Amino acid sequence: MDKKKQELTRRQDQAALGGGQDRIEKQHAKGKLSARERIQLLFDENTFEEIGMMVVHRSTDFGLDRQKIYGDGVVTGYGTIDGRLVYAYAQDFTVFGGSLSETHAEKICKIMDLAVENGVPLIGLNDSGGARIQEGVRSLGGYADIFYRNVRASGVIPQISAIMGPCAGGAVYSPAMTDFTIMVEGSSYMFVTGPNVVKTVTNEEVTSEELGGAMTHATKSGVTHLTAANDVDCIKQIQQLLSYLPQSNGNKPSINGFVLSDELRPKLNDIMPESSTTPYDMRHVITELVDVDSFMEIHEHFASNIIVGFGRVAGMSIGIVANQPMHLAGVLDTDASRKAARFVRTCDCFNIPLLVLVDVPGFLPGTDQEWNGVIHHGAKLLYAFSDATVPRITLITRKAYGGAYDVMNSKHIGADMNFAWPTAEIAVMGAKGATEIIFKKEISSADDPQATLIEMEKEYSDMFANPYKAAERGFVDEVILPEESRRKIIKAFSLLANKKKLTPDRKHGNIPL
Ligand code: HXC
Repeated sequence: MDKKKQELTRRQDQAALGGGQDRIEKQHAKGKLSARERIQLLFDENTFEEIGMMVVHRSTDFGLDRQKIYGDGVVTGYGTIDGRLVYAYAQDFTVFGGSLSETHAEKICKIMDLAVENGVPLIGLNDSGGARIQEGVRSLGGYADIFYRNVRASGVIPQISAIMGPCAGGAVYSPAMTDFTIMVEGSSYMFVTGPNVVKTVTNEEVTSEELGGAMTHATKSGVTHLTAANDVDCIKQIQQLLSYLPQSNGNKPSINGFVLSDELRPKLNDIMPESSTTPYDMRHVITELVDVDSFMEIHEHFASNIIVGFGRVAGMSIGIVANQPMHLAGVLDTDASRKAARFVRTCDCFNIPLLVLVDVPGFLPGTDQEWNGVIHHGAKLLYAFSDATVPRITLITRKAYGGAYDVMNSKHIGADMNFAWPTAEIAVMGAKGATEIIFKKEISSADDPQATLIEMEKEYSDMFANPYKAAERGFVDEVILPEESRRKIIKAFSLLANKKKLTPDRKHGNIPL
């Protein structure tokens, strides 16, 4: 038995080295951890169980029959993170550059199936040169097997993708179909075609970093939800993100221990500027509303005119969607609409209640917006809110104008509880624009058109730039003082804790994708 035990240990040690110490050191020299080091950091100590450690590829072409390395470039298995069961795979760049072979794909598919069947989140740590070039179509088939499972798992279990090295070609589509993507700055990139092909086809000169680095996808394309300074930061962010999510769509997110108090937040009384055209930072409102240090912003660098992220109120995980008056006055445009729509869908499929903070002057006008489909993208947000069955609370802090009033989780599209501060202005449009249209004749025929405009504007503002017309109709349930907001929101979410809403009998709706 001793000999057998030694043989097992020898093979395990060999597998643990992946492509060898030299290649691990090369990985370190690039500022990257090895696949197994990443796994060790991700999971609670000594909880990770590896599956398929001794799998090798079955290829014989190009001399591959003489190069078989245990694990075949991916570490797969399960363990606990903060005590919760999670499945994960980590591609091992030291083995054939982490490239995806048929067997590499089979290993990933095996844990994807286990994760779905057992209702457990899945985390993918990607670091790969793409399809194993020597394997040809078998490798492409392996990718498609993964893509298919990503879609089957979508909305069933949380799927998080970390990009911790190269991710090119069709390989980008697996992360793109998961719920969250996080990229490590300086050492990861994602693109469908690399700089060389770009140069050949479009004659553009571009570096990998410019084309598909972390900040490119965080600011320009919105492909990545989060960026991390390095591998360790990336793992920490994954752990934090996971804490807001349930195990699967059959569960609610866990509630942190919290003693409910009747606290007021007087700082909220001082946030709103005197003039309704002066910006303020909606993040300050969010910070006062949620439990201390519980806000995690998603898509921070993309479409800054809207804020989305997770937080906790009284220990309960919630999703927050908030207009940001600091950027473009908080207007809704194409990017803000699709960013928020995606977030609302994510929260809804994982039973995470929504808190929506509204200060929106309307949709952004202009040819750029119209030609880029602001109608279509705005419709995504309208659809996402209308379709969401999780508890939904709205707080209008200031402006709620035009179509944007309807879209931003209004009562009419199914919000459960709508609050407004006394500073709220709810109307078809701002006073100046409205006055110029409805009093056009009076203004143009007046002796002093400018004075008449100002007078009419004041009349319109007095009538509509407040929350009371909406409250009289019941479109706003209660007008509250800013300092009371946290207390009211906590109470309303407790009231809605067992909300059940039936959905129409249909295969699926046709969201304007
Ligand atoms: C097989 C690969 C490989 C691949 C890298 N390697 N990519 N082996 N298939 N796709 C191997 C290298 O031969 C090398 O082996 C080792 O991994 C490390 O690679 P290096 O080139 O030395 O590393 P580095 O300089 O860091 O460059 C990394 C890289 C580069 C930028 C990823 O290797 C590269 O460009 N690889 C090819 C990328 C690619 O075109 N992939 C196909 C994309 S298309 P040794 O033994 O020398 O250490 C695709 C289609 C998917 O993926 C479609 C899905 C639908």
